[in-house]
Amino acid sequence: MSRVVVTGRIPEAAVEKLRAEHEVDAWQGPESIGREELLRRVAGAHAVVSLLTERIDFELLDAAGPQLKVVANVAVGYDNIDVAACTERGIVATNTPGVLTDATADIALGLILMATRRLGEGERLVRSGRPWTWGMFFLLGSSLRGKTLGIVGMGGIGQATARRARAFGMEIIYQSRSEIDPGIAAELGARRVDLDELLSVSDIVSVHCPYGPATHHLIGAEQLAIMKDSAYLINTARGPIVDEAALASALGDGQIAGAGLDVYENEPRVHPGLLELENVALVPHLGSATVETRTAMAMLAADNTLAVLSDQRPPAPIN
Ligand code: GLV
Ligand code: GLV
Repeated sequence: MSRVVVTGRIPEAAVEKLRAEHEVDAWQGPESIGREELLRRVAGAHAVVSLLTERIDFELLDAAGPQLKVVANVAVGYDNIDVAACTERGIVATNTPGVLTDATADIALGLILMATRRLGEGERLVRSGRPWTWGMFFLLGSSLRGKTLGIVGMGGIGQATARRARAFGMEIIYQSRSEIDPGIAAELGARRVDLDELLSVSDIVSVHCPYGPATHHLIGAEQLAIMKDSAYLINTARGPIVDEAALASALGDGQIAGAGLDVYENEPRVHPGLLELENVALVPHLGSATVETRTAMAMLAADNTLAVLSDQRPPAPIN
């Protein structure tokens, strides 16, 4: 029996699966676990099942001790984990790719619709009790058919977003470290371009790359300036990929038409400039937030954990 520490509440089925084979210490608090409590609890753990709100760094690995074998993130993004530190100590780190692809692409489309059709603005108006009537020119947005969607980061989620956008009649271009499968590119009619071209020709730019030093402020003032003044920026990946202060200025100055954000640079804080604007849809990191998806993510994290604890290759290793 190994000791498994789960750093926050996850679907019960996954905790049960772990508990069938190991001793499980699962944080049950309604709030996220505090840093000190976390460092205390991981002591002696063989496995840490982590949420993206917990930083997994040298300090935590030290606090856990040399018996630690696996850190299983219940997320596809793993910028909260110092993977090099894990590798250096022979600790396997894992994530949950694939199972949240559709849910996240759904939210990207939701934000595209919210931004281009001014749904947040309309909802705020109706709730405000201020008068409104149907009008020929009332709250007009922008149509999707025939427009170009530029996807930054064409992994599973980028491709799933592209597939949905095709059903709305959009053309797809993408920027990615590598060429995607030619069959998928053909099916999506997707053409690979560099970031500057993508920014200058897209009507909607949607961000789907991982966050790391190479993508910090990938979209900053200079990049926003290249975008059309009729274009929208959507981010369902990680907040710091976009320079939020620069985005607030660009939206305020009419440099771009609108934006839709699910993630923030200093989450859960949102740049105050954005809160004052009508032309940005703001939702609270809901990309993978469906009952089905969260269950699948937790089960995959449990499978990753169980595999490493029994000296097998986990389904989704990072290192
Ligand atoms: C969510 O943001 C994830 O990375 O799974
Ligand atoms: C997400 O599931 C991805 O692999 O891009």
